[in-house]
Amino acid sequence: MGVGHPCFVPSKRQATGRVSFLQTSAKHSYQKKCLLSSKVSYQKNYRFPYRFLLRTKQTSGRLVCSVATESVPKEAQESKMDQPKEIFLKDYKMPNYYFDTVDLKFSLGEEKTIVSSKITVFPRVEGSSSPLVLDGQDLKLVSIKVNGIELKEGDYHLDSRHLTLQSPPNGTFTLEIVTEIYPQKNTSLEGIYKSSGNFCTQCEAEGFRKITFYQDRPDIMAKYKCYIEADKSLYPVLLSNGNLIEKGNLEGGRHYALWEDPFKKPCYLFALVAGQLESRDDIFVTRSGRKVSLRIWTPAQDLPKTAHAMYSLKAAMKWDEDVFGLEYDLDLFNIVAVPDFNMGAMENKSLNIFNSKLVLASPETASDADYAAILGVIGHEYFHNWTGNRVTCRDWFQLSLKEGLTVFRDQEFSSDMGSRTVKRIADVSKLRNYQFPQDAGPMAHPVRPHSYIKGAEVVRMYKTLLGSQGFRKGMDLYFKRHDGRAVTCEDFFAAMRDANDAEFANFLLWYSQARTPRLEVTSSYSAETHTYSLKFGQEVPSTPGQPVKEPMFIPVAIGLLDSSGKDMPLSSVYHNGKLQSLGSNNQPVYTTVLRVTKKEEEFVFSDISERPIPSILRGYSAPIRLESDLSNSDLFFLLANDSDEFNRWEAGQVLARKLMLSLVADFQQNKPLVLNPKFVHGFRSMLGDSSLDKEFIAKAITLPGEGEIMDMMEVADPDAVHAVRTFIRKQLASELKAEFLTTVENNRSTGEYVFNHHNMARRALKNIALAYLASLEDADIVELALREYKTATNMTEQFAALAAIVQKPGKIRDEVLDDFYGKWQHDYLVVNKWFALQAMSDIPGNVECVRRLLDHPAFDLRNPNKVYSLIGGFCGSPVNCHAKDGSGYKFLGEMVVQLDKINPQVASRMVSAFSRWRRFDETRQNLAKAQLEMIMSANGLSENVFEIASKSLAA
Ligand code: ALA
Ligand code: ZN
Repeated sequence: MGVGHPCFVPSKRQATGRVSFLQTSAKHSYQKKCLLSSKVSYQKNYRFPYRFLLRTKQTSGRLVCSVATESVPKEAQESKMDQPKEIFLKDYKMPNYYFDTVDLKFSLGEEKTIVSSKITVFPRVEGSSSPLVLDGQDLKLVSIKVNGIELKEGDYHLDSRHLTLQSPPNGTFTLEIVTEIYPQKNTSLEGIYKSSGNFCTQCEAEGFRKITFYQDRPDIMAKYKCYIEADKSLYPVLLSNGNLIEKGNLEGGRHYALWEDPFKKPCYLFALVAGQLESRDDIFVTRSGRKVSLRIWTPAQDLPKTAHAMYSLKAAMKWDEDVFGLEYDLDLFNIVAVPDFNMGAMENKSLNIFNSKLVLASPETASDADYAAILGVIGHEYFHNWTGNRVTCRDWFQLSLKEGLTVFRDQEFSSDMGSRTVKRIADVSKLRNYQFPQDAGPMAHPVRPHSYIKGAEVVRMYKTLLGSQGFRKGMDLYFKRHDGRAVTCEDFFAAMRDANDAEFANFLLWYSQARTPRLEVTSSYSAETHTYSLKFGQEVPSTPGQPVKEPMFIPVAIGLLDSSGKDMPLSSVYHNGKLQSLGSNNQPVYTTVLRVTKKEEEFVFSDISERPIPSILRGYSAPIRLESDLSNSDLFFLLANDSDEFNRWEAGQVLARKLMLSLVADFQQNKPLVLNPKFVHGFRSMLGDSSLDKEFIAKAITLPGEGEIMDMMEVADPDAVHAVRTFIRKQLASELKAEFLTTVENNRSTGEYVFNHHNMARRALKNIALAYLASLEDADIVELALREYKTATNMTEQFAALAAIVQKPGKIRDEVLDDFYGKWQHDYLVVNKWFALQAMSDIPGNVECVRRLLDHPAFDLRNPNKVYSLIGGFCGSPVNCHAKDGSGYKFLGEMVVQLDKINPQVASRMVSAFSRWRRFDETRQNLAKAQLEMIMSANGLSENVFEIASKSLAA
């Protein structure tokens, strides 16, 4: 298991985001009023959106970027306050000007950097004379020329966010702008900044406006050249997008490089890197025989740790050719790893920039989870070259066009490289743990524009409905129609539909309706007619701005099990007054996809010889909450027999959730806790079943998380949920001690570390067995864990042993933590694991330990990974984060305010810990609310943090 609350560990896997609508002045008026009266209602001042903020929050991942775009007409502001989404989609306006070529020149310096741009501008409509509005933030304007003639003040208008040319020339013209920027002072890590002495960039979503004045929107696609000059000894490597055209020395110890990108791109894909870096080089020969140079750049000492990243890149390039027929389109592909990065990585054209955490790995320092994340994210960024770069988003409302599709592609890639079932279980768990709770809270949002994970689920549904071949046909048509363009989610939908001549009913609602649909299923069997009926009822909870929701198009994959546990052949189904035969060419079908599209509807299977046990929503065929009338014994039956492994796991999870909820009720009523023996038996048979995949067993014996259970309660009770989960774990450990010990013994590593499914599965099972055992008080277990810690030959096992030991406070814990730090203090990525492990601890009062760690010499509030490990990690312990004395909230409140001054994106991720404050009891609500109000009244609050804090308070 990786470290850190997955929400804060930068990787790509599950990103979500949101759009919201804030007016800068609303923030300031709130703050002013707060000074006057602490009871002021900020809602009154919550005037409409002058801009929207787009946030792509990466869980397991990902990050947050906050973006501001177009202003909204005043009338719209007044009238549509409650329907922000509609306004912005409707208000999309084509740009009045396009850019054709963009020549950039960077003179990198220690005090300041000079950026010169020369842009060929042409109007959308010849002869029109509208103003040209450029975005710009934190820039010093040095000069501006139109067609070579310098403009004077008065010829243009400059404010803190825009540079406006009131009446540019008719027709095509050149625009030359010189600005001065200060990357050394840029702690927001957007635009150009320095990380470990090197220059690097992050432009998505709206960082380019911190580099130079520009129409910073993705539908402006242009061809770029980039000339970089810098001191040669300090910055021997100078990189940008595309091909290196020229390089050479300059006077005064400086040198230069000129890069040219032959593909048109939006500015969010621009990148520049300059620094002391070395590369691991390799070559990939494409299927058409072109040789592509691959280079992974890091500081020299890290190069040995890039082997797995290079393996992952080559595997991804091959996979995209095999599965989608997509070849790489340039002769060079660069990846640069930097230690300071807000998110997981960025798909800049031919120059991907990565958080080092997602590039660097060695068996001794990185865990299996790190290896898997690197594989997935290297794949993800590479796959963006087609889904995101060649075909990009028209506007940021279309974010899931590229992210949903690319997350889907990376999920498929990882599935093909490892175990499909286990990957699916992991992805669905993330969806449930991070996306669904968010959907139920004040930050609920539809797939468009911002939810990455849910976006991937929507793409998966196309594939479920169309089959692999139909899906591929849709993808081929999508690229044929839209290569080189900036498009919308409807364009993707239309390509899928048209390529297959498909009928998709109201499928597009997946892009617009927020909240997770609930689907209820009731079943009945008729022995006389040999028919089996499934009745579906669906409901999408309302959200502000979307009070009434339409029924969704939900593909429900279904199979029926006979009493021996085998799949029954499905011959036909009666629906909507028609009998539809299933299967073709007399081939029986065992799983069929029902298309549920109405609020209520019934499907009746014929020729069903006995009462079946239904396996519903196989493979999790739609991102919904399913409620069925299956009994516990049906669920135990599915757990033991379902041929769909995902649903086998799911049956166990449903049982565990029910069990945990009923024990939580007992705990709250001071009843003694007793564990159902059937549950213990179920675990025992899993552990002893040698026919099962070991990683599958590890997943199946993992209890649902505390957050997932709290999410199902009327009033979330972190103490009760924690007590119950701890009780069950301990009870299982004590009853199955022998089995767990055998599991540890039988799965110890013998040879070298190998990254493949077989070995990872073995380690996963061993580690979870050890984690269970560690919940016991037994001295022999402490010894066992210590032995495992000392003899481990890889980080996966060493860290699992350390985690087992630190469950219990005391001298041994302290000593081993010290020992681990002593061993790894030179490796910042390992030290981050060490921070996270301590931060996530459920030991009562752990907030004090976390506060002490803030002063640890290895901690630095300016480095996002460290913040995600320590402060984000703390949020991974609900019992401490939501401590009833408010100590967790107080700590987080203070941290948010401090962080916001350094890096608003990072701060806004931390403030999310408060967003569901109303789910708790009154005492906690008051404590959390007080912190949110304190945050809101802080001076100079960023828009990122203001957005989440104000929305949370308003909810
Ligand atoms: N666009 C960035 C990525 O997907 C966030 O990696
Ligand atoms: Zn992405």
